[in-house]
Amino acid sequence: MNPLVPDFLSDFVPTLIHLSYLLASVLFILGLKRLSSPATARSGNRLAALGMLIGVAVTLFNREIISFQYIIAGILIGAVIGAVLARRVKMTSMPELVSMFNGFGGIASALVASGEYFRIAPAVFATQELTALAVSLLVGTMTFTGSLVAFAKLRGIIGGAPVVYPGYKVVNTLVFVAFLVFTSLFFLDPGNTGLYLVLAGIALLIGLLLVLPIGGADMPVVISLLNSLTGLAASATGFVLHNHLLIVSGTLVGAAGLILTLIMCKAMNRPLFNVLFGSFGGNGVDTGLPGTAGGKTVKEVTPSDLAIMAAYARRVVIVPGYGLAVAQAQHAVREVADMLEARKVDVRYGIHPVAGRMPGHMNVLLAEANVPYPQLFDMDDINKELPKSDLVLVIGANDVVNPDARLNTSSPIYGMPILNVDQAQNVVIFKRSLNTGYAGIDNQLFYADNSYLFFGDAKKSLELLQESLKGL
Ligand code: TAP
Repeated sequence: MNPLVPDFLSDFVPTLIHLSYLLASVLFILGLKRLSSPATARSGNRLAALGMLIGVAVTLFNREIISFQYIIAGILIGAVIGAVLARRVKMTSMPELVSMFNGFGGIASALVASGEYFRIAPAVFATQELTALAVSLLVGTMTFTGSLVAFAKLRGIIGGAPVVYPGYKVVNTLVFVAFLVFTSLFFLDPGNTGLYLVLAGIALLIGLLLVLPIGGADMPVVISLLNSLTGLAASATGFVLHNHLLIVSGTLVGAAGLILTLIMCKAMNRPLFNVLFGSFGGNGVDTGLPGTAGGKTVKEVTPSDLAIMAAYARRVVIVPGYGLAVAQAQHAVREVADMLEARKVDVRYGIHPVAGRMPGHMNVLLAEANVPYPQLFDMDDINKELPKSDLVLVIGANDVVNPDARLNTSSPIYGMPILNVDQAQNVVIFKRSLNTGYAGIDNQLFYADNSYLFFGDAKKSLELLQESLKGL
């Protein structure tokens, strides 16, 4: 009997709860659907948040609550930390924040399932619940330690280089086999809490061992995969608790995260296995010096020459990349675009699906500067237009415009779909040096006959360009 529910309502409570969970699930699905376009993403977020509110409220109403004080204190502390972090985090640090969210989501699922295990006599757990418990423990706990490693690599707390030693693959396999052996022993003796704690310890270790050998450069894909695993852990916990909403929401997160992971792999033309277990990247030409690299020379452009090229072009395509985010040049680029449009230049933005360091990175940045959505073109559409374009401004992008991906069969990025900016009439690349991009490989585009380099911080360079445009 729930003391919060009047007697006359108690018969309807289970049905009301199920209906509320169904409504919350529908809101999650509609929210996800709306997240697929920048124009509807905000309302999608609100719908999903409403679904979550309904889910939390109904669950609190449903369960036999031991202490509302602790729950309210937890919600308040969590809400304050979450709000402060979300407001303060820089766009370039977003993957780190998501990584921490994943880690805490995973460990929360494992702790909730473990709480249920310790609360009720384990002997009454059926095989199905024991299996769900083991999955929740393994996946939730390894997601936690794996996410901490991903965070530390992205933050530069530990080096981004793969942490490997001779025979590490054998050690990893042995640790995983140990987990399977102890799981089997635990199934034979489910009341043995000591065995359960050993399992938890091994799962913590698996997370560390799995992510340490992966290079920092591959962390965005790893984070997306860990996000998917968080959903799987939550779903498994739903089976332990017999909570339908947790099963549905966990499955949605798991599926969405996996789809995103595969989309990223496809956009980089690398199988997931290669991301997780292969080494990636070259040594590149990392002179850091503007002007020359390996005996090859590049041509530099001055702000005033570029202003003339841009102002008298019919069509200018802007290709943003990670450096735009680093320089926080989204407003400056929008202002340049506005000035060119005022001169009747047709300005478009070409967006590569993995430009930047997280999915949708460029869309979010440009939306912040209120760049109109119709000006954003995805890779396939803009590639058709590039040969007909007079000028491409590549701003802080490198790998996503590297023609080696199309032309050089021995390049590590060969086969990766790119924006074919080299096919335009002229290309101007905004960057600070001849350093490589994320993949660590040299870019032949810099040395092409129709390419010019504009060295400097992207924001400052765009401001110089604005000054020159004003003077025309
Ligand atoms: P990158 O290839 O990483 O190149 C970024 C360029 O920005 C660098 O060449 C850097 O050159 C320049 N830069 C940095 N700070 C700058 C500043 N303040 N001003 C001007 N330029 C600056 O970036 P991209 O072309 O966007 O490609 C993204 C890469 O990330 C791809 O290899 C992709 O596979 C990978 N990746 C992306 C994702 C997602 S989901 N986006 C996920 C996994 C992997 P300087 O140092 O010389 O300035």
